[in-house]
Amino acid sequence: ATSTALGANPLLSPIDRPRRLRATGAVRALVREHTLRSRDLILPMFVREGIETAQPIASMPGVLQHTEDSLVAAAREAVERGVGGLMLFGVPEAKDAVGSGATDPAGVLNRGLARLREELGDATVIMADTCLDEFTDHGHCGVLDARGAVDNDATLERYREMALAQARAGAHMLGPSGMMDGQIAAIRDALDAEGFTDVSLFAYTAKYASAFFGPFRDAVGSSLQGDRRTYQQDPANGREALRELELDVAEGADLVMVKPGLPYLDVLRDVAQASPVPVGAYQVSGEYAMIEAAAANGWVDRERTVLESLLAFRRAGATCVLTYHASEAAGWLQGGL
Ligand code: PBG
Repeated sequence: ATSTALGANPLLSPIDRPRRLRATGAVRALVREHTLRSRDLILPMFVREGIETAQPIASMPGVLQHTEDSLVAAAREAVERGVGGLMLFGVPEAKDAVGSGATDPAGVLNRGLARLREELGDATVIMADTCLDEFTDHGHCGVLDARGAVDNDATLERYREMALAQARAGAHMLGPSGMMDGQIAAIRDALDAEGFTDVSLFAYTAKYASAFFGPFRDAVGSSLQGDRRTYQQDPANGREALRELELDVAEGADLVMVKPGLPYLDVLRDVAQASPVPVGAYQVSGEYAMIEAAAANGWVDRERTVLESLLAFRRAGATCVLTYHASEAAGWLQGGL
């Protein structure tokens, strides 16, 4: 009787049954559109000067400020698990107005890069954060002019020197994250002039002035007062990301990035559709902290939440994903998702 009643109304007797393709694990695997593999993941890491043992970061449980030795050990473990790359940030002991530690070959970041390259060779892609904020006493991503505003073009000169120091230390790829106008062209020119034509540039193309960077500022002991709204993008804007994409590609970016991650999946999708070069997404410190906090309370399943959020970046169009979960997730992934 029920079937007759349903049969009388075509809307109540579905002809299309999408559930057929969800019926077993095997058929779900067969029709799965997107994948997540350990090599898609990039692990951001912190190396800190003047510490004897690795230090925890309160707002990023599970993430450490490394000594040089613990950096190498954690990097090796991540590479053994198959991560695609490492992105290194430095935490110097001393800071000054121009971020001298960033260009000193004996500065913490350059030493860390050299150690990683020496120990790992070409087994992974060693990336360097090319930005002054960890090294400046005012905490801005560039140098300041007489009025205390970030001086774009004077900063480009510092980025050129910083890029060369990182290339000399052995970085395969540089990640200029300061959002200065013309930074990709300036750095490309400096590298090429010294023969570093093979050092590639992972441009932070669409980087927003985001509250989700909060825990990172603990991680690097940031000195910033105020905000970065004169150089990072307004979270209200989408179109601007496409303009930044055009500029970065024209200036010589080899890869481009959207950051933060989950709150900006729409921007990631737009950039991925328009970009002629591979696109990365950066799941930032605040996103990491939110997942960890919820999982610690037992409110979400940690492993499933991490993997689902990473898969979302791939679905939105990311080729690779920077995430503080990279090493652990690579361990879970084995054959891939
Ligand atoms: C700047 C930089 C920041 C992050 C990466 N590079 C901080 C900022 O722009 O304030 C944030 C990363 C994160 O939150 O995980 N060098």
